[in-house]
Amino acid sequence: MSSDMVKAEAVHKSFGHVEVLKGVDMTVAPGEVSCIVGPSGSGKSTFLRCINHLEKINAGRLYVDGTLVGYRESGGKLYELRDREVAAQRRDIGMVFQRFNLFPHMTAAENVMEAPVQVKKVPRAKARERAVELLERVGLGDKTGNYPSQLSGGQQQRVAIARALAMEPKLMLFDEPTSALDPELVGEVLDVMRGLAEDGMTMIVVTHEMGFAREVGDSLVFMDQGVVVESGDPRQVLTDPRHERTKSFLSKVL
Ligand SMILES: Nc1ncnc2c1ncn2[C@@H]1O[C@H](COP(=O)(O)OP(=O)(O)OP(=O)(O)O)[C@@H](O)[C@H]1O
Ligand SMILES: [Mg+2]
Repeated sequence: MSSDMVKAEAVHKSFGHVEVLKGVDMTVAPGEVSCIVGPSGSGKSTFLRCINHLEKINAGRLYVDGTLVGYRESGGKLYELRDREVAAQRRDIGMVFQRFNLFPHMTAAENVMEAPVQVKKVPRAKARERAVELLERVGLGDKTGNYPSQLSGGQQQRVAIARALAMEPKLMLFDEPTSALDPELVGEVLDVMRGLAEDGMTMIVVTHEMGFAREVGDSLVFMDQGVVVESGDPRQVLTDPRHERTKSFLSKVL
């Protein structure tokens, strides 16, 4: 088995008769930041959801850290894992969505503590200490007692990132983490993500922020209509795309 953190081989996914992923291949090395861009409906979110088995794939293989996602392979056949086994796999993968989905009745610290306490049975005092550290790391050391309604969108998204980090994931998936934010709040969230990247976190980031992709991304993947059209060094793909579809997309967003 390779040492890739993520390896997708010919991943296919259909909803009913509509094939949304038509054979996606992708590899992400440990510590790599891979940015995915592409038009609406190209399958970016679906692909991310397949990586932590929120969606079941119809064909192909997906590995995270060398382990097949969602299935066990035995005698050349695939057997779907039980819910409990899928949940255990998912614990190693942090996911941050466009909408933060914080628990409204819990403070920032309580939101960050929740999964370690409930899922990992970490003692509350220890979990709280760690939550405060993580909130400091995302620049919210002074907001630990605030409820989500008392935080800006950018602050809420940073709590959501701290919450994902609390489970000590080996991989972080971001699905347009800044697209629901007012423009002046985008930078603070991207700064936190940049810090994570510098600390060596493996990240897959679906984004429209081409500046971020260029500066922080190690690779840029352009998806269209359920396939990877091209991928490579972000600067190369952004300035000198090889494919017509990439050129046409970039000319609309850059
Ligand atoms: N649960 C579902 N049931 C049926 N169709 C779905 C489902 N989820 C996604 N799709 C369809 O799959 C296609 C890809 O959707 P997906 O959300 O992955 O695209 P995307 O690249 O993330 O787009 P966007 O940039 O708008 O977020 C779309 O045509 C969408 O309508
Ligand atoms: Mg999407």
